[in-house]
Amino acid sequence: MYSRIISVGSYQPDNIVTNEELEHKVNTSDEWIRTRTGIESRAIAEPGQATSDLAILAADAAIKKSDINKDEIDLIIVGTCTPDVATPNVGVIIQESLELNSCPAFSVEAACSGFIYALNIANKFILSGESKCALVVGAETLSRITDWNDRNTCVLFADGAGAAILKPSEDTGIIYSEISADGTYSDLLYVPYGTSRKPINEKENDYFLQMKGNEVFKVAVKKLESIAINTLKKNNLTSDDIDWFIPHQANIRIIQAVAKRLDMPMEKVIVTLAEHGNTSAASIPLALDKAITDGRISKGDRILLQSFGAGFTWGTVLLTL
Ligand code: UT7
Repeated sequence: MYSRIISVGSYQPDNIVTNEELEHKVNTSDEWIRTRTGIESRAIAEPGQATSDLAILAADAAIKKSDINKDEIDLIIVGTCTPDVATPNVGVIIQESLELNSCPAFSVEAACSGFIYALNIANKFILSGESKCALVVGAETLSRITDWNDRNTCVLFADGAGAAILKPSEDTGIIYSEISADGTYSDLLYVPYGTSRKPINEKENDYFLQMKGNEVFKVAVKKLESIAINTLKKNNLTSDDIDWFIPHQANIRIIQAVAKRLDMPMEKVIVTLAEHGNTSAASIPLALDKAITDGRISKGDRILLQSFGAGFTWGTVLLTL
């Protein structure tokens, strides 16, 4: 018995901000952003749009693309580090809005690895028999915790949501998944203000993401290489056996470096950075949905998903669609 992704949906806000527009806000250039990151534009939520608003649209799209009745959903897990409010969690807000049945609904706070963590947990619920139909979402409004005067970060981060429906299946689905974290790196990428140790004080304007990008870059490449190699080894596979590699969309140079070390041709790597930017927990389901929708990925393909984010947190999911 496996758990299998039976459908995927996603949502990007309509408000698209190009690199040229950012040239008017901070001292940057389209050329720098393209060559150093691979990003060309990004979607930014409207002021009134919260993370759950994006998540609901992505979840609804995934439900509509599946053959399930929404009443079947018996588990909701959302990866996000930009929840609407401290409580209720985004999963509960989705449940209420889409009029889903009473069931466990919670969010997972693992930054860019939120979706992979959520998928890993949902897989275990399905394999244990506790869930027969899970809704797994990655959703963020990173624009809310981005300092739009800081060129080191504002050119990178973006908003969006992606969702997947998981069901038990006798056909191969999720083959392997591993998640992990190392808190000793927490000072390289963090938000200083929040709800408990340092409550948000709008006057201090200090509740934005802080990142030592260069140092994050180096650890990301090493860690992503080692977990991908570990995942392949543990499953007696090589990169030749993978049809599609979907890494977290943070920087094209990180993706290229990891692909090279894995001997994975870039033709097999899904890259959506140009139009999505770094959407944290939403990045992998957004990329997966795009590649399914444009016909690159189809049923039966073997896919390696991989995330890396603040914490640091990381994870992989190896699956057959
Ligand atoms: O998703 C979670 C994980 N996050 C990541 O994986 C992000 C990892 N890090 C990165 O993607 C890259 O480190 C960045 C894109 C953030 C930065 O690229 P970099 O090649 O590491 O640049 P850098 O920080 O070493 O800066 C190089 C230069 C500096 O100028 P000087 O000191 O050489 O004169 C920066 O001030 O580029 C400058 N710079 C910019 N210039 C124009 C930094 N940001 C910008 C900018 N526009 N937006």
